Amino acid sequence: MKEKYKNLFIPITLKNGAEVRNRIVMAPMTTFSGNSDGTVSEQELKYYKRRAKGLGMLITACIGVSLDGIAFPGQFTAFAENADENLKKLSEIIRNEGTKAILQIHHGGRMAVPALIPGGQAVSAGNIPSPRTPDVIPRELHEAEIDRIIEDFGKATKKAIDTGFDGVEIHGANTYLIQQFFSPHSNRRTDRWGGDIQKRMLFPMKVIDKVKRVAEEYGKKDFIVGYRFSPEEIETPGIRIEDTLVLVENLISKELDYIHISLQDIHAKPSMGSGYDKSMVEMIIDKVNGRIPVIAVGGIHTPDEALKIVEDGADMIALGRELIMEPDWVKKAEEDQEDEIAVKMSRGSKDKLVIPDALYKQIENTDGWFPFEK
Ligand SMILES: Cc1cc2nc3c(=O)[nH]c(=O)nc-3n(C[C@H](O)[C@H](O)[C@H](O)COP(=O)(O)O)c2cc1C
Repeated sequence: MKEKYKNLFIPITLKNGAEVRNRIVMAPMTTFSGNSDGTVSEQELKYYKRRAKGLGMLITACIGVSLDGIAFPGQFTAFAENADENLKKLSEIIRNEGTKAILQIHHGGRMAVPALIPGGQAVSAGNIPSPRTPDVIPRELHEAEIDRIIEDFGKATKKAIDTGFDGVEIHGANTYLIQQFFSPHSNRRTDRWGGDIQKRMLFPMKVIDKVKRVAEEYGKKDFIVGYRFSPEEIETPGIRIEDTLVLVENLISKELDYIHISLQDIHAKPSMGSGYDKSMVEMIIDKVNGRIPVIAVGGIHTPDEALKIVEDGADMIALGRELIMEPDWVKKAEEDQEDEIAVKMSRGSKDKLVIPDALYKQIENTDGWFPFEK
């Protein structure tokens, strides 16, 4: 290994004592490729096997925790009747490589796909549709349903424990249900679940409490619980970086094992508001000040880019699209072959790169998402 990359390969001990062998994480990425009964598919198992080697942690695609939260065709679910067998295979594939296996747990809220949920009725903190899906009018959740969804996050955590995962990541990012409760755009409730920022944080905090309780009761001492969030929203009203810094303080008080900042561009400065000269990642790292490990993500392709982020203070970096395009990223970074790392995708490389059919189709059909060779 080149001496200069050594900081990417230093092990890190998380809050609960779990030892992660290096700083490189596979970002959670939905595959659209689960079996129609909600179980993990053979194509997914092959895709993860091709990528698990050498990483510190692999965070899986998000698993649906509730019937009413399914947000993608082919999303695997924690409540599928026969979920266990292939979830066990998935955790084993990852752990056999010495990589921590983290299951991302998720509810889509108003971003659920009507055709995939009971009665076609999406649910959320309130009845305001997302500007991304204006035709999907959500129904405001009742108190008892909120309690049930919190229980569902607990059940999914138990499922992760029972099927051999090293931890779970709570998906509080990317405009899904947990973020919808935190957001002043989607949460206009006047009961205890909405109002000022403290009240809008109640649902995320209750989910964390539940997940941590289940982890403490049933998991090993070093079972990992992480939390992912998006630092701002483009909607008005919407989450601003100032709100996120308050959220971060509360996440720290929950004794989580890590926090994960979800961004498309790791260098992005706050876009809502002016006069910021630091990036959102830098602002959060300053706020955290070493009190909890931070994972940063968004547009990293080369080991030099990854190294720079770690040297600037992130504890770990996550690679998303890059690991789809280059399954051997870690090996090449470790074995002095960094110049051979593919940073673009060539058309027709689905089989060579072991990418599930439905995921590859999405990639090819979404202009500008992945960089393609000309
Ligand atoms: C195919 C694909 C699926 C994704 N699915 C998820 C997901 O299930 N959960 C999540 O939190 N983020 C998801 N993301 C976002 C990524 O985790 C990551 O934050 C984003 O792609 C930016 O990182 P990158 O530039 O390294 O790809 C997905 C991204 C891609 C490309």
